[in-house]
Amino acid sequence: MRRLAHISDLHFGREDPDLMRELLADLRRIEPSLVAVSGDLTQRARRRQFLAARAFLERIPYSKIVVPGNHDIPLYDPVRRFLLPLHRWRRYIAADMDPAYIDSEIALLGVNTARSLAFVNGRISDRQIALLRYRLCSIPDRIFKIVVTHHPFIPPPIPPFSIVGRSAKALAVLEECSVDLLLAGHYHVGYSDDIQSYHENIRSHILVSQASTLSTRLRREPAAYNVFEIDPPELTLTVRTWNGKVFVPTRETRYREMKKTWSRVYASPAHRQRGLRWPTLRTRRTRKP
Ligand SMILES: [Fe+2]
Ligand SMILES: [Fe+2]
Repeated sequence: MRRLAHISDLHFGREDPDLMRELLADLRRIEPSLVAVSGDLTQRARRRQFLAARAFLERIPYSKIVVPGNHDIPLYDPVRRFLLPLHRWRRYIAADMDPAYIDSEIALLGVNTARSLAFVNGRISDRQIALLRYRLCSIPDRIFKIVVTHHPFIPPPIPPFSIVGRSAKALAVLEECSVDLLLAGHYHVGYSDDIQSYHENIRSHILVSQASTLSTRLRREPAAYNVFEIDPPELTLTVRTWNGKVFVPTRETRYREMKKTWSRVYASPAHRQRGLRWPTLRTRRTRKP
């Protein structure tokens, strides 16, 4: 069994210091073997925000795969935005925009979807799709394959509904190379579903999960992150939600993969507390027109 923590949208510059301190403590209690960080580390890609993000990441004592988000590209500085969009990311966070972690049980590949010209939206390039194919298809299918991006492959249950650019082309490769799980953030809304809930032409079942934010930029739900216990053919997804003092488990969903199909075999009721709306891992039911 492997445990993976998925954190997203930290937005340093708009962080809650108490939450950040407790997040580190909670991660140490959870003891994941891997941590996926799906972008928007900073609020405005400023130097001091990257330094704070780097100091935070350095305090996570587990293997990490980190990808940029649209907020990690300067918005108001046109010279930096268009000529040096991820210069500070490379300088303070990581030189590799498309990092990979692979061992005998699990493969976690990151893809940078942040673009200067796309502003809030993101895109995957043909070069990245070719690199994904080269890396993923050479990994045996017995290894659990995960891809993490900032921009999601299926839209949230509430507007806006845009998804990552070139998703159809990328998904053809992800399907060909038997990817099991896609992780993303960006909308600050936690939701999960099978890829076929939106992309009907995909024949393989790929589980898709989005994490909420861990910043103060909340969108209809409290800050939270996701923990996966991966024990093929089963996978358990637990949402750990910030209640103002500590992180508490608020929703558990168990999936089982049978004949290449992800079936939801258990879902706990969402915990409720007065004044707070807990993430419920909403299931999409709207298919692409
Ligand atoms: Fe964000
Ligand atoms: Fe974003």
